[in-house]
Amino acid sequence: MQLQMQTWAEVERYLETSSVIIMPIGSTEQHGPNGLIGTDAVTSEAIARAVGAATDTMVAPTIAVGMAQHHMAFSGSMTLRPATMIAMIGDYVNSLAHHGFDKFFFINGHGGNSATVEAAFQEIYTAHIMPGGSNEPSVRCYLRNWWQGPKMGPLAKDLYGDKDGMHATISEVAVTQYLFPEDIKSGPGIDDMGPPEPLRERWSDGNDYRAKFPDGRIGSHPYLATPEAGKQIFDLAVSEITEEVAAYAKR
Ligand code: NI
Repeated sequence: MQLQMQTWAEVERYLETSSVIIMPIGSTEQHGPNGLIGTDAVTSEAIARAVGAATDTMVAPTIAVGMAQHHMAFSGSMTLRPATMIAMIGDYVNSLAHHGFDKFFFINGHGGNSATVEAAFQEIYTAHIMPGGSNEPSVRCYLRNWWQGPKMGPLAKDLYGDKDGMHATISEVAVTQYLFPEDIKSGPGIDDMGPPEPLRERWSDGNDYRAKFPDGRIGSHPYLATPEAGKQIFDLAVSEITEEVAAYAKR
């Protein structure tokens, strides 16, 4: 059930029986030699829509650009400043809270968003006790990274051993291949990309990141991705998060 596909009257009726809304959030950033720039946004959006359908829960418009300053040395990457993103999440949540939504289940596709999204939640909660604050009535927000379910780690281990990596993972590339088979990339630089640069130390800004990880990957072997495995990973993410959203709605 997508918010954008309802009329205002349908949303008003929904709010008579539920105040839960799923918030897909991703990023628009390089994903190595064969990963789509939109990987984190399209995966979180597709998972959110499937979970919304399975639980009859409203799904908000996807927040498709996130905190990705460290990817900015690669063409096509986009980023919000942390302060912009905190303000934007606050405005999304407060707009919806104005109509009666009060439980916000964020399905996140990008690890680099986590600290900023959690800071945004704290801003929203803090506003509740500040003069002129906007968190009225009180709301609750929850952040769930789609690749971190209890059964997901074992599945990735089973499929890829220690080759899944940390960025431009085989798993996320596989999910995009399942969702968008017409956009599977191949050719020179992809089929022969070879092993990744190991993660020796953390990075700071985009230039530092690119110096350490010249093709954009961190520790991953995404040439091993297949749409078939992508379907397994997608289905597991949807089933795990479906249970969690159903439980969240009852709290
Ligand atoms: Ni990603």
